Amino acid sequence: MAKFVERVFSGVQPTGNLHLGNYLGAIVKFVELQKTHDCLYCVVDLHAITLPQKPEELKANIREVTAAFIACGIDPEKHIVFNQSQVTEHAELAWVFNCVARIGWLNRMTQFKEKAGKDRENASVGLYAYPCLMAADILAYRATHVPVGEDQKQHLELARDIAQKFNLDFAASIAANGYGDAFFPLPEPLIQGPATRVMSLRDGSKKMSKSDPSDYSRINLSDDADAIAQKVRKAKTDPEPLPSEVEGLKQRPEADNLVGIFAALNGETKLDVLKVFGGGNFSAFKSALVDLAVAKLGPIGAEMQRLKSDPASIDRVLVDGAARARAVASKNMAMVKDILGFVR
Ligand code: AMP
Ligand code: TRP
Repeated sequence: MAKFVERVFSGVQPTGNLHLGNYLGAIVKFVELQKTHDCLYCVVDLHAITLPQKPEELKANIREVTAAFIACGIDPEKHIVFNQSQVTEHAELAWVFNCVARIGWLNRMTQFKEKAGKDRENASVGLYAYPCLMAADILAYRATHVPVGEDQKQHLELARDIAQKFNLDFAASIAANGYGDAFFPLPEPLIQGPATRVMSLRDGSKKMSKSDPSDYSRINLSDDADAIAQKVRKAKTDPEPLPSEVEGLKQRPEADNLVGIFAALNGETKLDVLKVFGGGNFSAFKSALVDLAVAKLGPIGAEMQRLKSDPASIDRVLVDGAARARAVASKNMAMVKDILGFVR
């Protein structure tokens, strides 16, 4: 298959309560990849409206995610930071992909089943078609690498299936237009490290989530030092001392989760953490975890506050990013129209 220029794309929904799972599962990797790749980081507001949103809260949350990106170390000058609704090619290409993806493929998506719940008949059509929009986000830029948390793996597989089906269905037209032997790359998920799935602090069998009704289930990026300390101290554990080997974390979801969080925050492995804390009780470990979390997240929360106090400057970042994103997406969309046989 054709060689594609390496490019990174990822998105975060502006649905409030950005938490440690978003940070460790996604944003930390976004920051790292800036060193090696051209990156686009998108606030996916079109995805957010697949569930009901209050307009004023949505607006504040779009600025909040943008502020978090910048406060965590994403450089919007060297890379591209923007919100999805300002680049209309996302919605346009998503329509094309609605016509490429098969209903049977979408019926398998577990996130739709979770989010739609029991009343599936009453879920929005957008929630169902969500993965086609996500594929369009990535492929509008012909991006090759997508850093995400574990929960997005199935959506990435669908994006690859859509890219592949488009390439095959339109192979003759792609070649006839002089666009080579494959138009879209098959985007690769980047899911690695000790915290690809951060669990709730109250229940080690549930994912840490923006929508959990208990604020004690998650550490928010906007939490101050006191809130972080309280949440870590109250985090659920078990009565055994910490093990000395990673093997000993099996069947101990809460211990495994806290050790994974420590490791990810400190840029080390779970085994490194257990070498220091193995054999000890949770209280000493939790104190060290509070210190580490406050040291890492405190400055981010403070910088987010500072940035949010000037919404006009955040909006300027988004407008500038959208213009640069559009320049890439509109060229690709024009080629897609040629391939499909649309007159333009
Ligand atoms: P979302 O808030 O659903 O838009 O998610 C933004 C990014 O954070 C995606 O890459 C998710 O996979 C990642 N993410 C969300 N929750 C978690 C979690 N509990 N653990 C690890 N990654 C997560
Ligand atoms: N669906 C992703 C989530 O909920 C967010 C997202 C939308 C995304 N478009 C994307 C992630 C494109 C990576 C690439 O977390």
